[in-house]
Amino acid sequence: MRQTDLIILAAGKATRVRTTRPKALHAIAGRPLLAHVMTAAQSLDISRVVVITGPQMAPVEDLVRRQWPDAIIARQQKALGTADATRIGLEVLGQGLPDSMTLVLYGDTPLIEPKTLQRLVAAIKNGAQVAVLAFRARDPAGYGRMIHDETGAFVAIREDADATEQERAIDLCNSGIMAFGSKTLRNLLPHIGNRNAACEFYLTDMIGAAVAEGLKVKSLECREDEVVGVNTQADLARAGEIMQNRLRAHAMAGGACLIAPETVFLCVDSQIGHDVVIEPHVIFGPGVVLEPGVVVRSFSYLESTTIGRDAQIGPFARIRPGTQIGVEAHIGNFVEIKNSQIHTGAKIGHVAYIGDSEVGERTNIGAGAITCNYDGLSKHRTLIGKDAFVGSNSSLIAPVTIGEGAYIGSGSVISRDVAPGALGLSRARQVEKPGFMTRFLTRGSKAKS
Ligand code: UD1
Ligand code: CA
Repeated sequence: MRQTDLIILAAGKATRVRTTRPKALHAIAGRPLLAHVMTAAQSLDISRVVVITGPQMAPVEDLVRRQWPDAIIARQQKALGTADATRIGLEVLGQGLPDSMTLVLYGDTPLIEPKTLQRLVAAIKNGAQVAVLAFRARDPAGYGRMIHDETGAFVAIREDADATEQERAIDLCNSGIMAFGSKTLRNLLPHIGNRNAACEFYLTDMIGAAVAEGLKVKSLECREDEVVGVNTQADLARAGEIMQNRLRAHAMAGGACLIAPETVFLCVDSQIGHDVVIEPHVIFGPGVVLEPGVVVRSFSYLESTTIGRDAQIGPFARIRPGTQIGVEAHIGNFVEIKNSQIHTGAKIGHVAYIGDSEVGERTNIGAGAITCNYDGLSKHRTLIGKDAFVGSNSSLIAPVTIGEGAYIGSGSVISRDVAPGALGLSRARQVEKPGFMTRFLTRGSKAKS
């Protein structure tokens, strides 16, 4: 069995995305581009992996260390081209087994699927020395073109900037994803020069070099939506859209009803059960789990939360990290919940803020109720027992505990614990002055005349 080494190139500058943040960290569906590439590769049988980063890319290196602790990180001080970056990778790998192969992935090609990578690996296992993944581009501008000779043999990749008018008309493009017999890569890479429009060392020149040596070179085709390269913000948006469509399709295949799927934005880790209904315009941050039967109404925003079976959320609800919503709970419009446990069947129907709290089973929180969880220095918890009732427009000043079955009168400001079964009330007594208005108005009209 051959050993497969992997080199991921992520040292390029973010020139065309025009951000100070490295391109590898731009996210689609809640996951950085480079993390998508690593995830796809992690499902292969990889022996050793090197990620090439550039100067000032410490956050990229942190991401690599978190996701792939065994990865070797190597820095390319100057972005001299993809062949130069690959050479650095080979250097840190040292000699591999004589019959090993090297897979090269670009950190800006996030949509690749494992089964397609496996096809490329298989091409090398079956005797090719170089294998390239190609695709038919809707708009080939900017991509390297796959050049075939008059016999139809694949003989070179021509970069866009170096291509003739005729070559630019070719729509079969290089995805950038390539695999090599490691020995061939080691032998030929040092001979690649930089006499081209960009004055860069192009990894793509490996094709011409291998053909000149009479080695077996193979190209495989895949769909464009697996290999869109992210160079600009527009590319990022397009890659994001393709990823969203995949995630939406996956959710629907699992039995979720997305009424207008193109308006629902998911994360790679969103877990959506069967019989879930998601109305239009819902946004998922990372870490959301919807158990079966949940209904999420329009314009809701969910992050790091688990929503229990048959619960209803929204419209216009914001569920923030650290929140668990129980089975059959109802969270209504303009409700914000943060870092709280809302138990089975609890109802928080309208305009409320619940933070750092626990709300017991079947408890009802009225409109406009607020937990005052922050005193300007630290956060405090509010504990509300089961079967309690918090009247509208109440402020619960944490830390505070409301006992099981207790009742808070509307408009109360509660700063002391309320015992189970008690009525907690804190509001000014109502005064009524009989006939006041009549006297007031009569005085007013006399003064005018
Ligand atoms: C590259 C290919 C092109 C292909 C396209 C597919 C080359 C020369 N061209 O072009 O044929 O159609 O990808 O998307 O390979 N990088 C480094 N160090 C460098 C230069 C680049 O690590 O010195 C990294 C980048 O961070 C990026 C990847 O290599 O992740 C590709 O580089 P990029 O400059 O984006 O190449 P393209 O012009 O897109
Ligand atoms: Ca690119």
